Amino acid sequence: MKPKIYITHKIPEKGINMLKNDFDVELNDYNGIVSKNHLIEKSKDKQVILSLLSDVVDFEVITKCKSLKMISNYAVGYNNIDINAATEKGIVVTNTPRTLDETTADFVFALILSVARRIVESDKFMRSKKFKGWGPMEFLGQDVYNATLGVVGMGSIGKEVAKRGYYGFSMDIIYYDRSFDPSSVGFKANSVSFDTLLKESDFITLNVPLNQGTFHLIGEKELKKMKKTAYLINTSRGPVVDEKALYKFLKEKRIAGAALDVYENEPDFISGLETLDNIIMTPHIASASKKTRELMSVKAAQNIIDYFEGRIPSGLVNKDVIKLEIG
Ligand code: GLV
Ligand code: GLV
Repeated sequence: MKPKIYITHKIPEKGINMLKNDFDVELNDYNGIVSKNHLIEKSKDKQVILSLLSDVVDFEVITKCKSLKMISNYAVGYNNIDINAATEKGIVVTNTPRTLDETTADFVFALILSVARRIVESDKFMRSKKFKGWGPMEFLGQDVYNATLGVVGMGSIGKEVAKRGYYGFSMDIIYYDRSFDPSSVGFKANSVSFDTLLKESDFITLNVPLNQGTFHLIGEKELKKMKKTAYLINTSRGPVVDEKALYKFLKEKRIAGAALDVYENEPDFISGLETLDNIIMTPHIASASKKTRELMSVKAAQNIIDYFEGRIPSGLVNKDVIKLEIG
């Protein structure tokens, strides 16, 4: 019998087509966030869930889906999955690393440039027909070139962001990452303490996974240390930033601005953010290029194929589970 897969959401076809021959694929065609009950109902006879980052695959789902052997997450981040519960039940979890680093880094720069040069604000101004002619004091922003870029998390995304800052905009790069090997950068970037990064950066970009150690990594205490002229960019996960504290600092203009692609309780965000001019908000689209989203579908499918053909999937997250299996 073919292993059964539940794909929780429509993803680019290329990945789905790779699975059609050797697996019994059920594709959810509902276009929205899947409820936990729905997920359990649909997945309880499946061997594989191909999940999105918005699907909560927690202890309850894992326990109730008794046939489950694998969770293939269509994302790099996997904070939506209870990894310990999966490992305990011998369920393999995979993600899609090295598919979206450049695409996400490009987007971080789109946000940096937009927020610093007030692109969104001035676009609104044009659309409301307020432009009365060129003015020497209109829409003054901050320069990006030569500014100091603080990268929190020098993983494969953070490194791509740093590279764009260094080569593209002659920025001084400082970073905070305790596990990063500085010899692997290839250009000038200085490892600093978190405190120094907060105090010296003109732009802070968050490129860390969400876990216990990064929850509310940026809160009131950290925002206080930032320059009044500095900007915060978050394309990682919403809960890395205390959204309420950020709202307060933006409203009181205690930092220059922020650009958020992710939110503490997606799809919601703290009420009031939408009224501020010094924030740009995008709907979790940092990896949303056609090419990258297709590549992610291929990677998510390949992880499944590899596992069922007896190879270790390259996106394996819970390595302990394979050790158990091999003995
Ligand atoms: C997107 O946020 C991802 O983790 O892939
Ligand atoms: C990358 O992790 C993203 O936010 O899409």
